[in-house]
Amino acid sequence: DVDRKVDSLLSLMTLEEKIGQMNQYNGFWDVTGPKPKDGMAAKKYEHLRKGWVGSMLNVRGVEEVLSVQKIAVEESRLGIPLIIGFDVIHGYKTMSPIPLAEAASWDLQAIQKSAEVAADEASAAGINWTFAPMVDISRDARWGRVMEGAGEDPFLGAKIAIARVKGFQGEDLSKNNTIAACAKHFAGYGFAEAGRDYNTVDIGTSTLHNIIFPPFKAATQAGVKTFMNAFNELNGIPATGNKFLQRDILKDAWNFDGFMVSDWGSITEMIAHGHAKDGKTAAEIAVKAGSDMDMESYLYVEHLASLVQEGSVQESTINDAVRRILKVKYELGLFDDPYRYCNKERERTVIGSKANQEAVLDIAKKSIVLLKNEKQLLPLKKEGQKIALIGALASDKNSPLGSWRIGADDDTAVSVLEGMQEYKGNTLMYAKGADVSVGKTAFIKKVKINATDTSEFNEALKAAQQADVVVMVLGEVGFQSGEGRSRTELDLPGVQQELLEEVYKVNKNIVLILNNGRPLAINWADKHVPAIVEAWHLGSQSGHAIAQVLYGDYNPSGKLPMTFPRHIGQTPMYYNYKNTGRPVEPDPDVVFWSHYSDQKNSPLYAFGHGLSYTTFAYEHLEVIPVNTSHKAPKIEVAVNVTNSGDCEGKEVVQLYIRDLFASITRPVKELKGFEMISLQPGEKKKVRFVLDSTTLGFYDNDGHWVLEPGEFNVFVGGSSDTTIKSNFEIQ
Ligand code: IFM
Repeated sequence: DVDRKVDSLLSLMTLEEKIGQMNQYNGFWDVTGPKPKDGMAAKKYEHLRKGWVGSMLNVRGVEEVLSVQKIAVEESRLGIPLIIGFDVIHGYKTMSPIPLAEAASWDLQAIQKSAEVAADEASAAGINWTFAPMVDISRDARWGRVMEGAGEDPFLGAKIAIARVKGFQGEDLSKNNTIAACAKHFAGYGFAEAGRDYNTVDIGTSTLHNIIFPPFKAATQAGVKTFMNAFNELNGIPATGNKFLQRDILKDAWNFDGFMVSDWGSITEMIAHGHAKDGKTAAEIAVKAGSDMDMESYLYVEHLASLVQEGSVQESTINDAVRRILKVKYELGLFDDPYRYCNKERERTVIGSKANQEAVLDIAKKSIVLLKNEKQLLPLKKEGQKIALIGALASDKNSPLGSWRIGADDDTAVSVLEGMQEYKGNTLMYAKGADVSVGKTAFIKKVKINATDTSEFNEALKAAQQADVVVMVLGEVGFQSGEGRSRTELDLPGVQQELLEEVYKVNKNIVLILNNGRPLAINWADKHVPAIVEAWHLGSQSGHAIAQVLYGDYNPSGKLPMTFPRHIGQTPMYYNYKNTGRPVEPDPDVVFWSHYSDQKNSPLYAFGHGLSYTTFAYEHLEVIPVNTSHKAPKIEVAVNVTNSGDCEGKEVVQLYIRDLFASITRPVKELKGFEMISLQPGEKKKVRFVLDSTTLGFYDNDGHWVLEPGEFNVFVGGSSDTTIKSNFEIQ
């Protein structure tokens, strides 16, 4: 039915109107990319009236959206509604934790719910399309955009991609509280060399098929309506002009029937890449390669008509792109009622609602990872204690909102100080100790960090001296990660490390709360500080979530979705590495094995690591080979997990395999299953997994899924560094 409607509309359209659908303009300047060409502002309105604009981004709020939608619908010849896009990355105004933090929950329902809340609020603000989820696998903590994805693992990443797509799009896309999702950035963007954003990506086919593609493929299978290509080149061809990625893989092999939007100006950027000699060539390459919509390059609207008239581009290529775009607009219900997302009453009541605040608090608590807890410092006692709270980030109401939160209002997060003040049984003394960032930072501006000023140390030391416990909130400000925010250090920025060491001299009972958008290398803290809590950038309810964990009203259950290195020199670092031909130290004095002379190979905290206020014992790992044929393998795995501590707790039970010998070498461990269980003290549960043809194979270098006979190890535990192991053989 939709296809028929699309075709009949297409038959009425002029070539220029078709190309107009492939053109996306930004609604206001300086938001997520470089400035547009001079004179474009006025032209945008003219083009809207002519029906030469298919989409706008960064227009938000019912009033703004109505102002452009009305022009498209009421003044253009065919009245085709715009699709309004926006970066709703972890919430619109009520902010959830940054996506990397949410991934640490391993709680797919909670992650889906978070995307539902984001869709609820964004749709109430007139938006009908989010540029999320970012499903790029990232292994390099130097890259600023690790905060925006689900971490380093393709299996977990694929599950989270599905949860997020379902959350945004819901069961029925035409409802006014669901929005179209966008799997981005296709592909390889997370593998920028040396973690420098936008840098070259040069990777092998095995990594592409087995590590990078799975979350994208999963998003496609979950019905994601759109894709975004990437700024990077992949093995010499910019992703935007890459036919192999966009046509051969996505549209042909995976049968994706939605549309592909370019990244901001990425069609023009093919000139700088050295791939297209001018704008016209760039437009030709991009459209032929399968980029259906041009975000802010203005090249489709400028050149596609003459390219078709000259015969360089087939009109059928244009028709295919336009069909895809119109189809999504129909599915969103925009043709039935272009103003269905523009209800002022809904905007007023939905955005920032109590229910949404409660939902983001729930996912914020679940995202916290307890990295270390010695001397039973945590949970804190609720009464009779003197607590020194130290760190500029502890009172910061802006930073917890994180990066990529352009719809949020500044200073609207609950700070740790505010969260802790709600627990009144203790004496709380607050001192900044050191200012972290200088001034308010906008999304596009560099963060300036105080790297020298220690004048506020004394006040903090005084508070620490008097305290029973010191809670220090240290780390990165919200805008130190995100797009264009790569780092060459993974330390505590500015003078924070110095502050930590000074405080430690006067009081060793330190609970360190980390705020960060990427793994940090905190070797010193791990050696000296008894308790460390990873609290990322947790969004609007950050302070409440952290206080509830500190006081034991919520028992932490998060597990790291990215490896924490000991030292930046180990990056890129990931648990599913290959063994190499020289994995074992032959003799302590011999150097010829794969290692560093000045640092261990192992991480500081492994992928999947995360503690609880209780403990869990794993026993009796059973492997039941139901069918060992490689044609239809079925291996059941079961393990008993007991809560061996003294409070109720949740554990993410993880299953990893190792395929010992294969035609293409396999990683030393691969996550192939996980389940979150909740246990009372003393309670035991048998957790079961099934390994089958979907989990025991791998992609060969032609992208075919293969299952090979051979020996496998299976590991089960509460982290990727588990040693609880068994084995089986596939014939
Ligand atoms: O969605 C983003 C993308 O991830 C990076 N460049 C700009 C786009 C739109 O804001």
